[in-house]
Amino acid sequence: MKNLLVGQSGGPTAAINATLAGVIAAGIKSEEIGTVYGCVNGIEGALKDNLMNLSKFFAGADKIEILKQTPSAFLGSCRYKVSEKDIPSIVKKLVKNDIGYFCYIGGNDSMDTVLKLKKACAELGTKVIGVPKTIDNDLVGTDHCPGFGSAAKYIATTVSEIGRDASCYDLECVTIVEIMGRNAGWLAASSALARFGGNAPDLIYLPEVTFDEEKFLADVKAKVDDKKSIVVAVSEGIKNADGSYVAEQKRAGNDDKFGHSQLGGAGKFLELLIKERFGIKARSIELNTPQRCASHIASKVDIEESALIGSKAVEAALNGESGKMMCYKRAQGSEYAIEISAMDIEKIANAEKKVPNEYIAENGCDVTKAFVDYAYPLIQGEREIIYSNGLPVHVSR
Ligand code: F6P
Repeated sequence: MKNLLVGQSGGPTAAINATLAGVIAAGIKSEEIGTVYGCVNGIEGALKDNLMNLSKFFAGADKIEILKQTPSAFLGSCRYKVSEKDIPSIVKKLVKNDIGYFCYIGGNDSMDTVLKLKKACAELGTKVIGVPKTIDNDLVGTDHCPGFGSAAKYIATTVSEIGRDASCYDLECVTIVEIMGRNAGWLAASSALARFGGNAPDLIYLPEVTFDEEKFLADVKAKVDDKKSIVVAVSEGIKNADGSYVAEQKRAGNDDKFGHSQLGGAGKFLELLIKERFGIKARSIELNTPQRCASHIASKVDIEESALIGSKAVEAALNGESGKMMCYKRAQGSEYAIEISAMDIEKIANAEKKVPNEYIAENGCDVTKAFVDYAYPLIQGEREIIYSNGLPVHVSR
């Protein structure tokens, strides 16, 4: 009987712990698995042999349920780029801990780790499976990513509430909401869902459309002339024609280990631009980390699917699959439903799924109905949150 190892990596989401819960529950339940271990801080924990006995910690069902409503990454995360020279060291730890199955929950960079481990694990007989997560929703091969639906629900809710607040004065005013997503605009696009019952947003800017300052100012002027107070949703990753980020804060040492710029500031930049050009009230709001850790308003669909994909990953590993990532496939038909299957990691690692043209409005500053139809089912449902002392209960290591 072999042991199961699970790790979490990359930026956290409100659903990554639900996936972990799915992996742990399936691992504990299986008679073919000895102990379920977690590597602390992702692959760095595997390298340092910093493992946690999850079978012991989660004995008894209630902690697992609380894990599903706990934001961030319970095991701790990392943004560590595995190099070829790390592989023997990781293999050594897998052998030492008798790991027969390894589930790695993460985004694009984490799938690069799965790809790098594939060959060594095959020689070892260890099954390695990638399990997707990212609020950015930019992994290829899967209809959507666990964590996206909850972030989208938070964004749509918050933009709807901001829209109410922003329109209370009889005053010309532009409120800019800056939303995460480095190179793909799925999250900023999801602000459009706020229009179900709300009066915002009025304009949406995605990284997929080259940002043009003069066009932006003209779009804003036309909307303000029409409506006085408007809300603009903007992705942190919007780019100028030369490819530079509008929000670029490229200072030495400000990139993470994968070379990604640490963004933030596009909203502020646009706020100042509007004030300078039109002399009207403008305010920018950076949604920042709450959009990926607001577990109190997580999408029930997202949390349930996230737990399911975790348990399916264990099932796939037990069935002998390896070097693959679990993917959602949307079933045909008018009722929303998904199927889960494994896809070769080569087709997924290091690729990025951008918002396709069919989801972007022709004017370049909105989304289409096709996008709304795609995203709408993913934000549905609310979980019953367990509270204590007036606050949601979390589980920690
Ligand atoms: O994981 C995706 C993400 O949340 C992006 O949307 C965001 O730009 C980035 O991570 C921030 O990462 P970090 O928290 O490591 O700065």
